[in-house]
Amino acid sequence: MVRDGQGLELSDAGEGAVAALDFVRQEWLAFGNRFAPFIEAADKEEKCPMLPLVAAGLMLTMYSQESHAAAARYCARAKAMAAGATPREQAWLIGIESWIAGDLDRSAQAFEGIVAQWPRDLLAAKLAQIHAFNRGDAEALLRIGAEIAAANDDRFVLAMHAFGLEECNRLDEAEALARRAVAIDRRDPWAHHAIAHCLEARGRMLEGVAFLESVADTWEGCNSFMYTHNWWHLALFLIDLDRTDEALALYDRRVWGVWKEFCEDQANAVSLLARLELRGVDVGSRWAELATYLKPRLHEHYSAFHDVHYLYGLARAGEASAVTEMLASLEDRAERAKPFERETWAGCTVPLAHGLAAHAKGDSAEAARLLGQAMPHLRTLGGSIAQRALFGAIHLDALTRSGWNDAALALLQADERERPTVAATKRALAELYKRVGRTEQALAAEYQAEQLARRYRATATATARTTPGTTPGTTPGTIGETA
Ligand SMILES: [Fe+2]
Repeated sequence: MVRDGQGLELSDAGEGAVAALDFVRQEWLAFGNRFAPFIEAADKEEKCPMLPLVAAGLMLTMYSQESHAAAARYCARAKAMAAGATPREQAWLIGIESWIAGDLDRSAQAFEGIVAQWPRDLLAAKLAQIHAFNRGDAEALLRIGAEIAAANDDRFVLAMHAFGLEECNRLDEAEALARRAVAIDRRDPWAHHAIAHCLEARGRMLEGVAFLESVADTWEGCNSFMYTHNWWHLALFLIDLDRTDEALALYDRRVWGVWKEFCEDQANAVSLLARLELRGVDVGSRWAELATYLKPRLHEHYSAFHDVHYLYGLARAGEASAVTEMLASLEDRAERAKPFERETWAGCTVPLAHGLAAHAKGDSAEAARLLGQAMPHLRTLGGSIAQRALFGAIHLDALTRSGWNDAALALLQADERERPTVAATKRALAELYKRVGRTEQALAAEYQAEQLARRYRATATATARTTPGTTPGTTPGTIGETA
């Protein structure tokens, strides 16, 4: 029987089919954007079911009505070619079919099963990790990474393993593996991403900016998710360095605008604008412009994580009727939830969405109450620790504004313990200490905030001096002008 480049058996595969599958595996794992030749090959293929199955998998990771419908068409074609399918191909068919039918639990099990039996199948591992990521299951993310690491000597696998370690808070091991991947090939954007997460988790912002800037020239051939998301990570570092004007410039030039109809780009954009506003930045008319791309998504519900981003974007844009319609639709979705997803939709998404809507219209007390209900279930929303931190930050803002000082203080102190280098956290702590009459601690926090801020200003000025033609904190040219 014919085998692909990973040594995996393929039924009814000609030379062209093998080449197409080997190409798409590399391109997908490298977060490239050259998928058109593979889609063309999958459209023409009449014998080998793996081509339409992989095409369906690609479509399903795009979370839109059109891509879902396309996945269903590819799946039907694969089924028609499946008479002589290998056991692995049959398992793929189950994974894709159950995903299309909304049985994500079964789909996740199917892809994890493939990884366990055929750990050289890196696209099955990619899809299994996507399922784990989408349900906030960090242990599964790591388990899959470890399984493929044992069977493949591959830089892509190092990065996939590293991200699982990072989401399990095993930061030193994660960073070491990701840096090994970069040492093998400095163009690995998923390894850059894993390193960014490790640095973010410990508040190592200066290192984060320096590292991402040093590799940003390699992202030009990335797909829009990876391109905008790595720039989003750089913007997060800048926000925590008090360089919010540069982060806003990144929103305009890198994070938003590559593919405005794509859910991942939209989530990055909503998250970045929200974080900038939480730091007091006026984002102007950007919410209104962004909301025009969110309005068609009110009833999709492919991913709770994306849904709450859409909802907050619409709410901040003042799209009251769209928000009301989406909240009702989310409640319906929660009522239809299968047992394995009930906590995600009913326990987390519904109170979170209502809390976000309340926060967006300035009802802080109601927002604090509702977000407080969602927080214990937040992990089940999916996404990464860094992405979900947005909702913790909005909850904290609502608590602070509505005078729940003790609860806000506890959250801020926990933030400070994890990331003691963020001046804004120290400033917020100082304000709260003042409110509750702890003057000495307020003064100490204020002093530490100023020390940090001075250090960051000095670094930004020194960087600008060594980068001709830039002015610190005022132009997008101060960062990432490497492309
Ligand atoms: Fe990330």
